[in-house]
Amino acid sequence: MSQEGEKMGELKKGLEGVEVLETKISSIDGENGILKYRGTDINDLVEYSFEAVTHLLLYEKLPNESELAAFSDQLRGSRKIDQDILDVLTTCDFNIQAMDALRTAVSYMSHCDPDLGDSSLESNLRKATGLIAKFPTVVAAFHRVRDDLDVIEPDASMSHGENFLYMLKGKKPGELEAEIVDKDFVLSAEHELNASTFSARVTASTLADIHSTVISGLSTLKGPLHAGARMCVMEMLDDISSPENAEDHVLNLISKKEKVMGFGHRVYKTHDPRDRIYKKLAKRLADHGDPKWFEIAEIIEATVQRELVEKREKPIYPNLDFYSAVTYKYIEIPETLATAMFAIGRVSGWIAHVLEQYADNRLIRPRAKTS
Ligand code: ACO
Repeated sequence: MSQEGEKMGELKKGLEGVEVLETKISSIDGENGILKYRGTDINDLVEYSFEAVTHLLLYEKLPNESELAAFSDQLRGSRKIDQDILDVLTTCDFNIQAMDALRTAVSYMSHCDPDLGDSSLESNLRKATGLIAKFPTVVAAFHRVRDDLDVIEPDASMSHGENFLYMLKGKKPGELEAEIVDKDFVLSAEHELNASTFSARVTASTLADIHSTVISGLSTLKGPLHAGARMCVMEMLDDISSPENAEDHVLNLISKKEKVMGFGHRVYKTHDPRDRIYKKLAKRLADHGDPKWFEIAEIIEATVQRELVEKREKPIYPNLDFYSAVTYKYIEIPETLATAMFAIGRVSGWIAHVLEQYADNRLIRPRAKTS
């Protein structure tokens, strides 16, 4: 090994376990299954609105009543998208996922931003509010344009989750569905240095603008090893279609050494705390509808637990994409929207990290060992 190679030390493929920066935004204890956003446990945060949690991520504190009212007004007042963006969405190939349309729309939004060259904190917070507020509008509009339906204007009297479902389906959602989608956005909002957040921070470290950092985040989030897994879980549920088929389906995947989507995690070596919350939400929906999807999911989980955790001693537990996909089946979310809905939540985490990066920046530029 060259002197430089020795100095660089052992390679950690996939950067497993490597700490590359400090953050105050969230922390994960992967051995004990604990996740906190700015010191508050996810089990407590899930009782707050998405708007309150976004305030926590961006402004470092849960808002009091007047702060929440002011911040919610800002977000709700920024939901509308321009006709230009709608025109761009109508030119997209309708076979693409909503995620691709969202990435295209963010790119276009950056062209139209009057302060594109202004990277002050004030300007960045204004851009952040606009992006977070508009994500649901873009995703819902793309879905409706693709299905040849009228685009629904946002309604500022509704929460982030309720308004998204309203714009998507064209009618006010039930209370339970609205509550669950708002919680979905809270649960997806932030997760330390996951691949897409890392991507966004690398882009920020070059001092690129905030829209570019979000496009990096979106591009990385899309893959099936990251949030794209949620769509794969929905497809798997459809393929299985009945509880009687679930065990054989999983045994077949394992015998072919294929991955069971929605399972496994780089950091958690036990249950992902978000998944345990999603499981309870999915059960609430199952109790009000056809229990089939929940029953299939429980059989998949029990089979993976028996075959991989107990027999092969691998720490392969459901991650947040597993039972969230089950909740989407109940709420009748089309599969092609699943990853984009993850992005609606995660954009607030990306932006919190990007602002943290800008505030104490050094170019992120690691080395490769030449082979
Ligand atoms: N099903 C079956 N086996 C699995 C699974 C799975 N879902 N996940 C990991 N394993 C096995 C691997 O086959 C490997 O076994 P081996 O040591 O015998 O070769 C071992 O566990 C380690 O797996 P890696 O893929 O090396 O683990 P890594 O930490 O690199 O990957 C990842 C983590 C990508 C999440 C992986 O578990 C996976 O591919 N899961 C399925 C896709 C998924 O659900 N992604 C969503 C993650 S959460 C999120 O990003 C929002």
